[in-house]
Amino acid sequence: MRDFVLRGDSVKIGGRYSAADLVCAFRNSSKGEFSLRLSVIGCGYVGLVTGACFAEAGHEVVCTDIDSERIAKLNAGGVPIYEEHLDRILGSARKAGRISYTADAGEAIRAGDAIFICVGTPPKDSGEADLSAIDHVARQIATEARTSKLVVEKSTVPARTGLELKRALAAYSGKGSPKFRVASNPEFLREGTAVGDFFHPDRIVVGVEDSSSAAELQEIYRPILEKSFHCPVHNGACPPAHRVEFLVTTINSAELIKHASNSFLALKISYANVIADLCEKIGANVEEVTHAMGLDDRIGGQFLKAGLGYGGFCFPKDVQAFIHLSASVGVDFDMLKATERVNRQRIDRFFEKIRQALWVVKGKHVAVLGLAFKANTDDIRFAPALEVVKRLLAEGAVVHASDPEAMTRAKTLFPQVHYHEDPYTALRGADAALVCTEWDSFRKLDWDRAGELMARKLVIDGRNIYAPQTMREKGFEYYSFGRS
Ligand code: UDX
Repeated sequence: MRDFVLRGDSVKIGGRYSAADLVCAFRNSSKGEFSLRLSVIGCGYVGLVTGACFAEAGHEVVCTDIDSERIAKLNAGGVPIYEEHLDRILGSARKAGRISYTADAGEAIRAGDAIFICVGTPPKDSGEADLSAIDHVARQIATEARTSKLVVEKSTVPARTGLELKRALAAYSGKGSPKFRVASNPEFLREGTAVGDFFHPDRIVVGVEDSSSAAELQEIYRPILEKSFHCPVHNGACPPAHRVEFLVTTINSAELIKHASNSFLALKISYANVIADLCEKIGANVEEVTHAMGLDDRIGGQFLKAGLGYGGFCFPKDVQAFIHLSASVGVDFDMLKATERVNRQRIDRFFEKIRQALWVVKGKHVAVLGLAFKANTDDIRFAPALEVVKRLLAEGAVVHASDPEAMTRAKTLFPQVHYHEDPYTALRGADAALVCTEWDSFRKLDWDRAGELMARKLVIDGRNIYAPQTMREKGFEYYSFGRS
């Protein structure tokens, strides 16, 4: 039996709480440690990282996914995605018996006191988020649960989804069914650094309807708030960090916080990209401009890197969904439409540079360096590199590609591309090298060696990872964004 104790004032929605504001005692009585049973539905990037990190933090986690092959792979000790540190913490959590996987959603649902919904919410053609997976999970929870549960949406969803989720849980529940409380707990994990982001967040946002949900979520995050975990990223030697803010809001606000944050970051990137275009016309350097801008604390230096623009499964779909949501309530979010337009035009701008440099693209051997939407991930969803490859193929180029992690995924989309583990073999005989992802291994390429291998010493850098002067000194014709 678990106790639940609140000390001090009752929880107010819309406030800020330190870990000391609440004392919650969900105690694992045998060990005297804090441990909760959590279910995670959906074993994609968000679900697996969330499940693994909660288990690493000491909770007991049961994960499920509609894809039984994925579950079989996880049960066999495999990791279906590439994310730094994930394989290690999944391995240790498994060894400690704190994480398990089942293809039986009912079993997973019954196992947890709190259920984290981490299923996909892909965009429909209209840009609206497709919430059918959330609806499906709501039905499963309502029919399979035998005890009351805290149902937490972690998938990125438009505002007011929580209210719909609550309605769906009630609608699918039979007479005498257990009670469900709903909460929103948006994730702010970046692919590639997701494990570190989980353990060292800037803020933890929980959107709730009642104080007990806030307290339960605070308990779940207690190891993070109190920094009582053993950090798998820094091996116990974490850099000094500011205090984590635990923000309790309404469900609508929590949902909006996620979309508003991602859309703002996307807007910042597009802003930097327009500045880059301006720099090219005027004869200025985008890096000098954005560096100086970023030194103003009110602006901040992050997400001002110009180049091929944003991709991935979050920004493009979140911006679209936010535009759609705004329009549905009569608010025209024009500046987000411009954000999208600028981002789409990055590929056009890249091709202007390619055509200007290569003149005729047809029949040219082009080495594409990078396929993932950003470095340190194997994720190619909405990757700008894919659009580049698609257009190169359409124009008749012979494409040789290299990426440290994303080639397996790309092969199924573009079987006609020649793939190379070693970037130097992709560059052998190339008429041009196109940099599409800012992998560290590409930053460190030996361009003297590459220059010897290439048919023409031409580099078109979509991520501004090289110094123009150095490349020119090495005898390269070099093009990048916003650095005339
Ligand atoms: C993002 C959010 O950062 C994260 O908080 C959220 O939970 C999920 O979405 P992610 O999609 O993993 O994370 O990638 P992020 O590192 O934010 O980069 C997004 C895209 O923007 C990448 O394609 C990246 O190359 C591009 N980008 C980023 C730029 O073009 N310029 C920049 O200055 C920064």
